[in-house]
Amino acid sequence: MIDLSMQFLGLKLSGPIVVASSPLSQSIESVRHMEDAGAAAIVLSSLFEEQLAIESRTLDEDLSRGTDSFAESLGYLPDLDDYRMTHDVYLEHLRRVRAAVDVPILASLNGATSGGWVRFAKEMEQAGAHAIELNTYALATDKAQTGTSLEEQLLDLVRNVCQAVKIPVAVKLSQSFTSVPNLAGRLEKAGAKAVVLFNRFYQPDFDIETLEVKPSLHLSTPSELLPRLHWAAILYGNVSMDIVITGGVHSAEDVLKSVMAGANVTELASALYIHGIDHIRRVLADLNYWLEKREYTSLAETRGCLSRRSAPDLSPFDRGNYIKTLSSYSLRQTMPAF
Ligand SMILES: Cc1cc2nc3c(=O)[nH]c(=O)nc-3n(C[C@H](O)[C@H](O)[C@H](O)COP(=O)(O)O)c2cc1C
Repeated sequence: MIDLSMQFLGLKLSGPIVVASSPLSQSIESVRHMEDAGAAAIVLSSLFEEQLAIESRTLDEDLSRGTDSFAESLGYLPDLDDYRMTHDVYLEHLRRVRAAVDVPILASLNGATSGGWVRFAKEMEQAGAHAIELNTYALATDKAQTGTSLEEQLLDLVRNVCQAVKIPVAVKLSQSFTSVPNLAGRLEKAGAKAVVLFNRFYQPDFDIETLEVKPSLHLSTPSELLPRLHWAAILYGNVSMDIVITGGVHSAEDVLKSVMAGANVTELASALYIHGIDHIRRVLADLNYWLEKREYTSLAETRGCLSRRSAPDLSPFDRGNYIKTLSSYSLRQTMPAF
């Protein structure tokens, strides 16, 4: 058997597959099933800033701060109510999950701004979370809002959460930052111990008959993995915090690519919705088979071997790739078949 263990947030995980934050972890039975199938850690679904702000009765105060994204996201709360829990129920669920399985459990907070709600991180720690994943989801909808101010708001939030707890905090980023390496370096200074690449945008869809804009959620496909591989490969060796890839990881090959790019672990949701929780077992068996055939003794030794730092030629990661890709495509299209 190959050693598939990976270091993540100061813990030795049994393997590279972590169950991503989603309602899949809302039943104790499923959580046990995940552990049996080989999940190395589990991220619980998120508690939302908006929910917590309402609960802690700071809503009026927060709204008067005039955060547009906050006010907009309130519109989605009735839909979220169906599966979201109150924070008491969340903490109780966290305690029950901790008691039910031995794998590390990450609680998840989802927010965009600092505020009174951040104190719930402390409660998650007290309820037994091994770590917190902070899903930072902020959208610029106001032309006065600059990229710099969004980054400052994010760093403020991360700093506040990291100061509130002793357990490690992983930050799940959206993909729309201009300089991911610069931001990652500043997140690290703010106290983050891992960066999770990337949040998927759940973009609204348009119904042209009813003229309605509706929330939509599509499961991922492996094609979404590519930008994540790219950024992980660039970050590896540039930051000392851990790197996680989530988004488009469906197979053993996707896990291998992620680790070779520089990820410590991968987080899966869509593949488990599509194939069921036992898919974790199959992916681990495939991983083992692939590594054994090529005479590796551990997965960890492959980490970062395809990162930008290890590359003899940097052009695939930089502008050179752009030109090469376009020219090779047009050549393929115009060449006669032999
Ligand atoms: C049904 C569903 C619910 C999700 N809920 C959350 C959530 O509450 N918090 C969060 O951070 N991510 C949430 N996610 C995002 C996943 O954690 C994951 O990062 C994303 O789906 C990319 O991984 P995938 O390609 O394996 O699906 C959700 C995803 C799905 C499919």
